[in-house]
Amino acid sequence: MDAEAGQDVGAAGVLEIPVWDPLVRLVHWLLAAAIVTNGFILDPESRLHEFIGYAALALVLVRLVWGVIGPRHARFAAFAPNPMAAVRHIRDTLAGKKTVHLSHNPLGALMVYNIWGTVLVICATGLMMGSIAFFGVEWVEELHEAAFVWLAISVALHVGGVVLESKLSGVPLVRAMIDGRKRVGSSASPR
Ligand code: HEM
Ligand code: HEM
Repeated sequence: MDAEAGQDVGAAGVLEIPVWDPLVRLVHWLLAAAIVTNGFILDPESRLHEFIGYAALALVLVRLVWGVIGPRHARFAAFAPNPMAAVRHIRDTLAGKKTVHLSHNPLGALMVYNIWGTVLVICATGLMMGSIAFFGVEWVEELHEAAFVWLAISVALHVGGVVLESKLSGVPLVRAMIDGRKRVGSSASPR
């Protein structure tokens, strides 16, 4: 395995590897909060719905820039979309093969791009609804709503996937999204 800056060997030979920088973590939890607030808590006709929608859009755009200029595990190059690799990941998992990825695993990566893309569609249609050209246009409103339903399904699958992958890989992924460090058994060879 490559040497990772800041990596420690903790109790029982568990490697603690810093993977998620503060920007990735902050953007993740703020985006999650914005989506839950806009989709389930606020009145969609309120000004605050629009304001939080703009914030969600800004968060995704910042994260997309970070995917180009950010640190190693946050870069798109570390989790390039690769459907064949995602299929291999499912096959390995079903065969009981334990794999540990320092960035997103190939299946998780597809979900991450899907979530960002869907948030962009929701925000674009939200902006269109307030524009002169598209005000009152039904398909725009329907797309805004349908994309939100798709996002809610995606997030449910995302959280289920995170919990399952944590169990199967033995790496507490939620803890890593909180403190930035993946705790990996020293016998594993992370990719
Ligand atoms: C609306 C809610 C949520 C959205 C939109 C969302 C979206 C995302 C996105 C876009 C990423 C990629 C992060 C990046 O590379 O910058 C991600 C990763 C992650 N999310 Fe969420 N998430 C949500 C809720 C949650 C919740 C509730 C949990 C905890 C149970 C969670 C746990 C994680 C973890 C652990 C990762 C990293 C997975 C890995 O190690 O590959 N997420 N999420
Ligand atoms: C995270 C981003 C967003 C989420 C999760 C979200 C979610 C929703 C949901 C669930 C609805 C109700 C759909 C229905 O049942 O008819 C809605 C309506 C609406 N949203 Fe958003 N939205 C987001 C961003 C935005 C943005 C950025 C704008 C505008 C700048 C916007 C403007 C609107 C408008 C105008 C409506 C229709 C309100 C009405 O019924 O008159 N949304 N949104």
